[in-house]
Amino acid sequence: MRTILIQLDTDPLASTFDRVVAVDAGVDELFSYGGMTPETVVPLVHGAMFTRAPGELKHTAIFVGGSDVAAGEALFEAVQQAFFGPLRVSVLMDSNGSNTTAAAAVLLAGGHLALAGAEALVLGGTGPVGQRAAELLARQGANVRVGSRFATRAAATCEAIRRELPEARLQPVATAGDAGLNAACRGVQLIIAAGAAGAELLSAERRRAIATLQVAIDLNAVPPAGLAGIEPTDKAREREGAICYGAIGVGGTKMKIHRAAVQSLFEANDRVLETEAVYRIGEVLLGR
Ligand SMILES: NC(=O)c1ccc[n+]([C@@H]2O[C@H](COP(=O)([O-])OP(=O)(O)OC[C@H]3O[C@@H](n4cnc5c(N)ncnc54)[C@H](OP(=O)(O)O)[C@@H]3O)[C@@H](O)[C@H]2O)c1
Repeated sequence: MRTILIQLDTDPLASTFDRVVAVDAGVDELFSYGGMTPETVVPLVHGAMFTRAPGELKHTAIFVGGSDVAAGEALFEAVQQAFFGPLRVSVLMDSNGSNTTAAAAVLLAGGHLALAGAEALVLGGTGPVGQRAAELLARQGANVRVGSRFATRAAATCEAIRRELPEARLQPVATAGDAGLNAACRGVQLIIAAGAAGAELLSAERRRAIATLQVAIDLNAVPPAGLAGIEPTDKAREREGAICYGAIGVGGTKMKIHRAAVQSLFEANDRVLETEAVYRIGEVLLGR
């Protein structure tokens, strides 16, 4: 039976990026819809549920995407609410690449240092990618500092993660100003920079001064770099004693995880793939 991926995108036009990945993941048919909202999605989900026999539903799956991650989360929830009983299809949420990017960054970091007990700092930790990276690091047992220019936003993100993971070891850190940034960086072994595109979060001088730093990952591909002195193409490149990755260096792993996550949708009709599940797929892919 032919596999069908139904791409539900919250942007007016469905993402070509996600469409290319779907094709490269080997889906037979791709149905793409833009401008999706929780109010308009139910008939499309029912169309996926009621067409094939229950035993054949694993050949149909849903992908939720779009540039607005909060809108994607609401759509993802509405899709799941539309299912009932065994009548469901698998669904993957990866709005703005948030889950696959965070999973790739944390998995790559874990290839160079033991994450359990590691001191980690996520700069730009309040955005969708940063929050997911912080959550995944905490799930691996790291002590995670969640950075924001605003103490209240860092604290709110820590609270949001703790609602999912009460045992998470998290510390909100305010990174505006020299004193705050110095304190946030003191003694860290890992930095993941997940700040907005084109925003420098840490100077090269300050990064080089962190004697404990083992791994530095910058997810921002738009100049200037989030971690100054790290090139977007850096891929496990050693700089001043630390292993460094730039956004393009992470991108290959992110793409592999994205393709594998799409493929895994068709293994059963009840997969619900978001942050942790996508990470687990990446673990298998990288042989962890
Ligand atoms: N490599 C890949 O495959 C890939 C895929 C997806 C995304 N990305 C990149 O990953 C990064 C994170 O994505 P995202 O969607 O989570 O980012 P985002 O929501 O746009 O921004 C993340 C955080 O950056 C901080 N920020 C915003 N403007 C800033 C400024 N001018 N100076 C300093 N900090 C600022 C904000 O935190 P506070 O206001 O709390 O300080 C914000 O919550 C982006 O650079 C994105 O382009 C890469």
